[in-house]
Amino acid sequence: MKDALVVYYSRSGSTRRLAQRLAERLDADLEEIREAHGRSGAFGFLRSLYDVMRAREPRIAAPRHDPREYKMVLVGSPVWASHVSSPVRSYLTQYAGSLRRLGFFCTLRGSGATETLAEMAALREPQAETIEHGRFPGLALTEAQLGKGAGSEALDAYVETVRQRMRAAGTPKRRGKSSAATSRSRASSRPSRTRTERDGAPAG
Ligand SMILES: Cc1cc2nc3c(=O)[nH]c(=O)nc-3n(C[C@H](O)[C@H](O)[C@H](O)COP(=O)(O)O)c2cc1C
Repeated sequence: MKDALVVYYSRSGSTRRLAQRLAERLDADLEEIREAHGRSGAFGFLRSLYDVMRAREPRIAAPRHDPREYKMVLVGSPVWASHVSSPVRSYLTQYAGSLRRLGFFCTLRGSGATETLAEMAALREPQAETIEHGRFPGLALTEAQLGKGAGSEALDAYVETVRQRMRAAGTPKRRGKSSAATSRSRASSRPSRTRTERDGAPAG
């Protein structure tokens, strides 16, 4: 079993940046949640607002990594109107049965982190373990903290918590390249490629 997978959605790059930092620190595989259509610009913003206010679960591409192969899966989202972003809602709902040990993180401009992280935690299967982390049920960093390289103490503390939980789950081993994902999720198509997304390629 592999150690950690970091899964994230990012509309404008902030959550991607945090996901990449976490993946580097944890030597984890990285999975970007992708949609067929981008959400850039004013129209993309309005569509995102519309989707999140209706708790819509947009169609997402099949993942490249099978979350069942990991001891720990960290899932990250931007905060949208104090809610989890719609693509991450889709992922959590579709793959809930494959996510046994979970951590959450989010990025935001200023408010709504607690509600968002709590909402993410509520989308898990009841028997799944989650990482509690201080005041929040996960790691929350603002764009300002990310931009200035601030928040590194919070990041360090979170990474340490995750490591402890992975140690408790079994001795971490260095691993080779990731194998093809084989999720039997409700996603319409299956993963077709093997790739560790360390560069966090943009969706599209
Ligand atoms: C539709 C929408 C709603 C948002 N609502 C909030 C909010 O309620 N609180 C907040 O602090 N930031 C809010 N933001 C800002 C994002 O959370 C913030 O810019 C985040 O870091 C973006 O992450 P990303 O670059 O990975 O997409 C919102 C952004 C969008 C697109």
